Amino acid sequence: MSRTSLSRFLIEQQREAGALPPDLRHLIETIARACKAISHSVNKGALAGILGEAGTGNVQGEAQKKLDVIANDVLLEANEWGGNLAAMASEEMELPYSIPDGLPRGRYLLLFDPLDGSSNIDVNISVGTIFSVLECPESVTGHPTEADFLQPGTRQVAAGYTVYGPQTMLVLTFGNGVYGFTLDREQGGFVLTHPQMKVPAATGEFAINMSNMRHWEAPVKRYVDELLAGKTGPLNKDYNMRWVASMVAEVHRILTRGGIFMYPKDARDPAKPGKLRLMYEGNPMAFIVEQAGGLATNGHQRIMEIEPSKLHERVAVFLGSREEVERVTAYHRG
Ligand code: AHG
Ligand code: MN
Ligand code: MN
Repeated sequence: MSRTSLSRFLIEQQREAGALPPDLRHLIETIARACKAISHSVNKGALAGILGEAGTGNVQGEAQKKLDVIANDVLLEANEWGGNLAAMASEEMELPYSIPDGLPRGRYLLLFDPLDGSSNIDVNISVGTIFSVLECPESVTGHPTEADFLQPGTRQVAAGYTVYGPQTMLVLTFGNGVYGFTLDREQGGFVLTHPQMKVPAATGEFAINMSNMRHWEAPVKRYVDELLAGKTGPLNKDYNMRWVASMVAEVHRILTRGGIFMYPKDARDPAKPGKLRLMYEGNPMAFIVEQAGGLATNGHQRIMEIEPSKLHERVAVFLGSREEVERVTAYHRG
């Protein structure tokens, strides 16, 4: 069987489908190379001394793991000299990182969650990297600022994630469907293994951190109560539950066999509308899920239509199989 490498796939998309310009193709190849390096560190684990705490905190007030810092550095280093970016922003950095003077600056902005699900790393459970690509506004001549990143998710030109699980897989969209690539370690490259990934419209599987139940808003309580009631309740069907605590792994499961993932707004900290971050978790995952035929809302509107007001803004997330996301969104409408 002839195999399609990531490079070949991207070149064909550029040439034949006209689906992506050459500088975006180059950027995606660079991100993939960085993810390969992160995958290598993840796999080495204790052998490379990368487990445990970094002893520092990020702007979110979260303790950083060593691998949060390593993955962030790998992505910055790989992408700063490629010539395709004007600036980068990350969960692990308070402010955007503008491409330094002396290096060529390109027309894209890259946002990333370098290591998603980092509480899983020390216990050897799947983690991932999430990224989103925007165009830098044309009016920007010097160094981009935070304001230049504040564009709704509908303006993303590409998004993707890499899941570091039993297999390392890169899943990509640039608005032309969703494609999955598996890392072939012997060959050292990603191979197209999952063309046109689709989220089934109906599902019997849900994912939510049930320990927060007492903090949820009424529509979420109602919906989850109905899921738990199963065949004896109004939904007339038994559901199964999963919670990996790594959004990348949950979304990957949903792209493979369907499901709904929820991280709702809750009353733990009224200042925070949810735990997940809009710009580098919500938006890229929403783009991927919608491109695969699913839906992603904050309970009230499409995540991708939210006008962001700050780089590290939080968002409630309901995403996955269309029928279930529609139902829980309708419950929010009352
Ligand atoms: P991160 O490791 O980038 O901070 O993100 C973790 C996120 C997300 O991946 C996951 O769904 C959620 O946090 C898990 O939260 P709980 O600890 O509340 O289960
Ligand atoms: Mn994350
Ligand atoms: Mn993270």
